[in-house]
Amino acid sequence: MIRLPTSAVLTALTLAIVAAPLVASGPTRGATARTPAIVPAEVIRTRQAGLKEMGTAFKNTMDALRGSDPQIIMIQQSARTIKNDSVAIRGWFPAGSGPAPGLKTAAKPEIWTKPVEFRAAQDQLARAADGLQAAAAGGNVDAIRAAARALGGACKNCHDQFKVPEQH
Ligand code: HEC
Repeated sequence: MIRLPTSAVLTALTLAIVAAPLVASGPTRGATARTPAIVPAEVIRTRQAGLKEMGTAFKNTMDALRGSDPQIIMIQQSARTIKNDSVAIRGWFPAGSGPAPGLKTAAKPEIWTKPVEFRAAQDQLARAADGLQAAAAGGNVDAIRAAARALGGACKNCHDQFKVPEQH
């Protein structure tokens, strides 16, 4: 009978332990490839959180503008948030994240059946967000007011076409 040195046995044992997860990962990788590219409920949660953030930033801007001496620095901060969200929104509506049984979303199917119009609504938001940021940087309250109005128009334009109205 052949007697292996203890070190050889240990090496073999170590290899087996190290290799086991690698072998096990084979089928797991296959399963990952078969799962859908997105998890709709997660996408919806992320986009609603982003839209909520943009909504709060917009409300803060409007509230600040109501005062007699608006805090420009606060408006600049809100404008930056809105700008970031106006960029991020491009990734918030991937195919497969529309209304479906068991999902709570106010996104209309038209988002995916009218991609040209939806893109135009996103473009309008992006322009208006840039406009608010530029006006906020300039610090002229009248210009900020006009830019905030234009931004509100961009929100409404998209909501009118692509968002289910709230039911009260
Ligand atoms: C390009 C289209 C588009 C634009 C532009 C847009 N929205 Fe929306 N918004 C939507 C859609 C669609 C929903 C519903 C999303 C869902 O429920 O999955 C929504 C939902 C929301 C919500 C509710 C989020 C929640 O809690 O579920 C708020 C708040 C909101 N938008 C604010 C705004 C504000 C403020 C602006 C402008 C600064 C804006 N949106 C611009 C499409 C848009």
